[in-house]
Amino acid sequence: MRAASGEELPSFEEIYAWAGDDLASVPWARLAPHPLLVMWLNGRSAPAAQPPALVVACGLGDDAEELASRGYSVTAFDVSATAITQCRRRFPASRVRYQVADVLGLPDAMTRRFSLVAEINTLQSLPRPDRPRAVAAIAGTVAPGGLLFVRCQAGGEGEPEAAERPWPVWRSELAGFTAAGLIQADLIDQAPVPAQHPFLRLIYQRPAGP
Ligand SMILES: C[S@@+](CC[C@H](N)C(=O)[O-])C[C@H]1O[C@@H](n2cnc3c(N)ncnc32)[C@H](O)[C@@H]1O
Repeated sequence: MRAASGEELPSFEEIYAWAGDDLASVPWARLAPHPLLVMWLNGRSAPAAQPPALVVACGLGDDAEELASRGYSVTAFDVSATAITQCRRRFPASRVRYQVADVLGLPDAMTRRFSLVAEINTLQSLPRPDRPRAVAAIAGTVAPGGLLFVRCQAGGEGEPEAAERPWPVWRSELAGFTAAGLIQADLIDQAPVPAQHPFLRLIYQRPAGP
């Protein structure tokens, strides 16, 4: 993958492979579920009947495990085979179905299947030309009446592109979720320092019905 500068960037697979078992050296590794996801889940009642949930680009698996611990029947995928191997190693007794998959080529079986979909910090890691397809694909996995949790760093369209990931997400890119039939149900916009790129936490819903 190339940065806007033309410089070749390491692939995600290379980054996970280089880390080996030193998981803390993966730059985005929290080795814990994302606090905004935990906070949001804490404000909701536990699901009654193990609804299907999907974790997009699950990395090292902590968000998927969190959802499983709360009663969801979880599928989680990542493009990196090494990341998926690490998920299985870290959580050998897990009920999560971990699989290698590319968000740009998801199986048809995922279409409109999931009551809850979690997308955390993936969009900002993807090259900009791939984002409209990724947004449409993620939206396409949400079942009628289902919810999509999105967390990303937002940026302005006129800004120069950074040399390295993450490349903040434009609001016009996020508009792809509503263009794909979802309704924006909630937005938290946190700017840690004024004038810095804010972190967004969005909830979308697919209207119930056919
Ligand atoms: C910044 S990491 C975030 C990982 C995880 N969501 C988290 O919050 O810890 C981005 C993840 O996206 C995955 N990824 C990148 N491109 C992908 C693609 N086309 N399809 C699926 N996963 C992808 C990477 O392997 C990596 O695990």
